[in-house]
Amino acid sequence: MSAEAVRVEVHDAAIAFGDDTVFSGLSASFEAGHVTALVGPSGSGKSSLLAAIAGHQPLARGRVEIHRGDGADPHRPSAALVAWVPQGSNALGRRDVLDNVLIASLADGRPMSRARAVAMTALDQVGLADRASEQARRLSGGELQRVALARALASGRPLVLADEPSANLDAANTDMVADILARVVSQATIIVATHDPILVEAATASVHLRGGSHE
Ligand SMILES: Nc1ncnc2c1ncn2[C@@H]1O[C@H](COP(=O)(O)OP(=O)(O)OP(=O)(O)O)[C@@H](O)[C@H]1O
Ligand SMILES: [Mg+2]
Repeated sequence: MSAEAVRVEVHDAAIAFGDDTVFSGLSASFEAGHVTALVGPSGSGKSSLLAAIAGHQPLARGRVEIHRGDGADPHRPSAALVAWVPQGSNALGRRDVLDNVLIASLADGRPMSRARAVAMTALDQVGLADRASEQARRLSGGELQRVALARALASGRPLVLADEPSANLDAANTDMVADILARVVSQATIIVATHDPILVEAATASVHLRGGSHE
């Protein structure tokens, strides 16, 4: 969980599906040490840009660079640098909460004892350490969203991409998600695609998409 945070630079980017251009001419940066809210109307390309940063969506033009703080040449978009926080949790309902986080810390190649400690620390950070041995399907929607955050933290990846992480949450649970993001931003660069005023307000930077040309 000590991954060095990264800076993401987007240069003159365009995303298109067939003949339909979602946006073009977008240049933006997402800085280490910040929770950046990625905002814009529905269809403006927020999820598509997150997918491009993770290397899942090719750009029609431009480039995404991922800079580590060491002055080395930037990385291309890569899923290996990204922890994805989906809306909801993608939890394995019949496995316990710890297993649902352990899966991410083991995937990073750590030995079991270390992976378990990393997973427990991540659960502690989202306030769910005392629920570690419960089946995930017993948790509420808000708690499951926090499990998804814990899984991202336990992955040790330097870039956390969260796509509408509060879409099914009430204000109290959304506040909790915002608090967690603010607390863990020293561990990873965080980009949150959201329409939620609570998350936008809690973010320390923002990037606005409007669809169409950004030039
Ligand atoms: N795989 C795809 N094939 C074709 N069109 C797509 C594909 N993925 C997204 N689009 C289109 O690209 C546009 C941008 O979609 P995207 O999901 O990135 O928007 P968004 O800003 O995340 O919207 P929302 O706020 O509703 O989540 C939409 O018009 C969508 O229909
Ligand atoms: Mg979206």
